[in-house]
Amino acid sequence: MDILLTGRWADDEERDTWLAALQGAVQAVLPGARWWLDRGEAQPAWPADIEVAVVANPPPGRLQGLPRLRLIQSLWAGVDRLLADATLPAEVPIARMVDPTMNAAMAETVLWAVLTLLRGFHHYAAQQRAGLWRQLPQRRADELAVTVLGCGQMGATAARRLAAMGYRVRAWRATTGAPVDGIEVHAGAEALWPLLAGSDIVVNLLPLTPATRALIDARFLAALPPGAALVNLARGAHVVEADLLAALDTGRLGHAVLDVFATEPLPAGHPFWAHPGVTLLPHAAALTDPRSAATVVAANLRALVEGAEIVHRVDRRRGY
Ligand code: NAP
Ligand code: GLV
Repeated sequence: MDILLTGRWADDEERDTWLAALQGAVQAVLPGARWWLDRGEAQPAWPADIEVAVVANPPPGRLQGLPRLRLIQSLWAGVDRLLADATLPAEVPIARMVDPTMNAAMAETVLWAVLTLLRGFHHYAAQQRAGLWRQLPQRRADELAVTVLGCGQMGATAARRLAAMGYRVRAWRATTGAPVDGIEVHAGAEALWPLLAGSDIVVNLLPLTPATRALIDARFLAALPPGAALVNLARGAHVVEADLLAALDTGRLGHAVLDVFATEPLPAGHPFWAHPGVTLLPHAAALTDPRSAATVVAANLRALVEGAEIVHRVDRRRGY
């Protein structure tokens, strides 16, 4: 089988690490696999035999001219940028990255963010910078209502771990589905507003789709109790940044923990960098781990070869 690896990488070293991890894992299930590496130069004519493209958000147009393509396997969990490529071959199935290692990493970031907000550790960090010694009131986890937007791979994992830490957790999803142990799950657009009204912290783990783009706007933020906090670990375009800044500036929103932004890297001079109401990460809430992700890719390639069902297939109509 001929496999193309294409995408955008921080540098050549990152790309080569991915290639080595993928080759190693795929070798174990498909010893004859041949890899073709897109080095980002002007689009070459790839061999017509390429059947699989393993992709990390390649620039638009990179998957054209592959007549035997049978699977597009994303190394990213979120496929919003991939689906935005109007030249993507229409009939080829897309599988996204679902990796328990990444779910666990995301849950750790959620636990850190929510604990920081519960105990005011962000305030203590600011106090340290100011040389200030002052104890703040100490709240209990069960005094805090945390709403997790999205109850899929990441949302459900994070919600379970939050519940185990004693928070009052509710999750929100698109469709009514299986309940998640010990967690209230609410479904559908109408269910959102009452949830927001009772939320001390909202954690966003939704996919970016036409239905969720710009969801977190002035109306959304005004529906939260005064002083509530937002943790956005999903996509920057879920948030209307001007509305978020306005809510932080007036103190209507107590704090925001932000990992993702409309423009990444966050431009120098952006108000979020120095805002006292913002704790900021460089899109690092849950990095894809090449070691575990490569085995996920290998399992899907084996399924393809054996005629079994591809897992974690993207529904292009829904956008996730
Ligand atoms: P997932 O398994 O597809 O789960 C998505 C969840 O969102 C599902 O529960 C889905 O509802 C719900 N949802 C979708 N559209 C909705 C809508 N209109 N209203 C209400 N709920 C809606 O996705 P995942 O693997 O958990 O990943 C979530 C997102 O995290 C990714 O798309 C990506 O953007 C982001 N991410 C960020 C990082 C980072 O480092 N910051 C890393 C990885 C992923 P149903 O269950 O009813 O379908
Ligand atoms: C990271 O944001 C991903 O979608 O994998």
